[in-house]
Amino acid sequence: MADYDAGLKAEILRLKKSKKAVILAHNYQLGEVQDMADFVGDSLELSQNAAKTDADVIVFCGVHFMAETASILCPDKVVLLPDIHAGCPMSDMITAERLREKKKEHPGAAVVCYVNTTAEVKAESDICCTSANAVRVVESVGPGEIIFVPDQYLGSYVAAKAGRGMILWPGYCPTHSRILPQDIIRQRAEHPQAKVIVHPECRPEVKALADEVLSTGGMIRFARETSAKEIVIGTEIGILYRLRKENPGKWFFAASEQAVCPRMKLITLERVLWSLQEMTTVVKVPEEIRLKAKVAVDKMLAVGRSG
Ligand code: 13P
Ligand code: SF4
Repeated sequence: MADYDAGLKAEILRLKKSKKAVILAHNYQLGEVQDMADFVGDSLELSQNAAKTDADVIVFCGVHFMAETASILCPDKVVLLPDIHAGCPMSDMITAERLREKKKEHPGAAVVCYVNTTAEVKAESDICCTSANAVRVVESVGPGEIIFVPDQYLGSYVAAKAGRGMILWPGYCPTHSRILPQDIIRQRAEHPQAKVIVHPECRPEVKALADEVLSTGGMIRFARETSAKEIVIGTEIGILYRLRKENPGKWFFAASEQAVCPRMKLITLERVLWSLQEMTTVVKVPEEIRLKAKVAVDKMLAVGRSG
């Protein structure tokens, strides 16, 4: 097995070099994939990285909307998603057509879309956001109505933080919605000294019980900087690999072991190798959509991060 893994990794490295490729991985990816990546991060950091890479090929170890965002920002590069079935169910909870209908009901409203959306939905939006900058993005929008899509839980959290009402789309993340208030209550009872940090995609009742609400990148920073030795993590459990690797003196506990994103887990080392060998699956956003979507993504990148 060790020889097999070593051979697999060596071949990925060889192909990566010969094809001038970079491997980007989200914080939820399998540990073996994180270890092969040139960069591991949250959605915002991955977009920023894609925007500035000088590689010819980007192997995106994440889900489809993330690869699309890379394609929006880097039209001249080949963007590969190692498994085309790695989609985000939340991003499929809204379509461009349904958003156009909503816009007709609220003429003049600005549309803020979470980065977890298709390129078509981004093309219908005024500005994009991630969990790391959603509050700042909403604060940057001028007066008037705002339609926020598709995550109702991130949306209601941001509306309260920014102190302005928003029209919310009823989407949600099936993985984060598995984390329940009783999970946090149980973890607090088992680890009374622990800090509890959760992702904004969690249910409002879960966020209300947490010490901090943070993007995955925010969690990585919090874990590094806190003096707490025990931390309960309310997000997809793939992030525990990186947290434990980077913080050997601290203890991390999953708020719920049920918080697994099955689509993220489709990307394995074998798929990464196959993807580089066959140069597949290419994710390319059509130019007409790309140009419109890029306006929303560029505005988000100009805002930067806040958490
Ligand atoms: P982050 O941007 O915080 O990494 O979150 C991405 C995501 O898909 C959360 O489910
Ligand atoms: Fe989508 Fe949720 Fe998976 Fe993130 S964890 S990619 S929001 S389904």
